[in-house]
Amino acid sequence: MLITLEGPEGSGKTTQARLLADWLRARGHDVVLAREPGGTPIGDQIRAVLHDPANTDMAPWAEVFLYAASRAQLVSAVIRPALKAGKVVLCDRYADSTLAYQGYGRGLDLEALRQVIALATGGLTPDLTLYLDIAPEVGLARRRAGGGEFNRLDQETLEFHRRVRAGYLDLASQEPQRWVVVDASGSVEEVQETLRWILVQRIPAL
Ligand SMILES: Nc1ncnc2c1ncn2[C@@H]1O[C@H](COP(=O)(O)OP(=O)(O)OP(=O)(O)O)[C@@H](O)[C@H]1O
Ligand SMILES: [Mg+2]
Repeated sequence: MLITLEGPEGSGKTTQARLLADWLRARGHDVVLAREPGGTPIGDQIRAVLHDPANTDMAPWAEVFLYAASRAQLVSAVIRPALKAGKVVLCDRYADSTLAYQGYGRGLDLEALRQVIALATGGLTPDLTLYLDIAPEVGLARRRAGGGEFNRLDQETLEFHRRVRAGYLDLASQEPQRWVVVDASGSVEEVQETLRWILVQRIPAL
């Protein structure tokens, strides 16, 4: 079972993924928590290039292929072996981030991006995608308050982040059987409660 968390900057993906992993483990599941970009030694080196604020002149397709390279490594080294071993894989961002950011955000051709994604993942699609929806102003303010890294994407305009959010909502509406849209504006505990409820509803085996 591959479950992905998606959403704009600061929507709470990393926070919620950790809590969900703890909860699933307490229920007796073998859980692998992965993140993108990165999640492998090679992927983490690619992540550093992608997040370096100094890399302002990155060509849009170079960005796409860096994310794709990181993803190909993660799928091959972590996700497929874990799924084969019967584990639950929780992934903090995955292929839909490429469609939202590079497609809707930067305006690259969605069909071309889908082809790159298919090559990088070998067609591995999530069983369930939890989309944490938040206004970009709120998410970016949370990130700033949290005092985490300032990365290359934080330099993007609010308009860019609004296109990303609208893109996510568009993707979710196209595949309602895979996506669940979650209001992420509540407290950490409220959002976690909602996510657990959704998992129990969607995946009775859990
Ligand atoms: N529901 C919430 N209410 C208020 N603050 C929150 C909430 N969830 C997370 N935060 C805080 O907001 C910041 C961003 O959260 P988190 O890193 O989980 O988001 P993210 O979606 O993983 O962000 P990014 O896209 O940057 O990886 C952190 O400082 C976190 O503690
Ligand atoms: Mg995060």
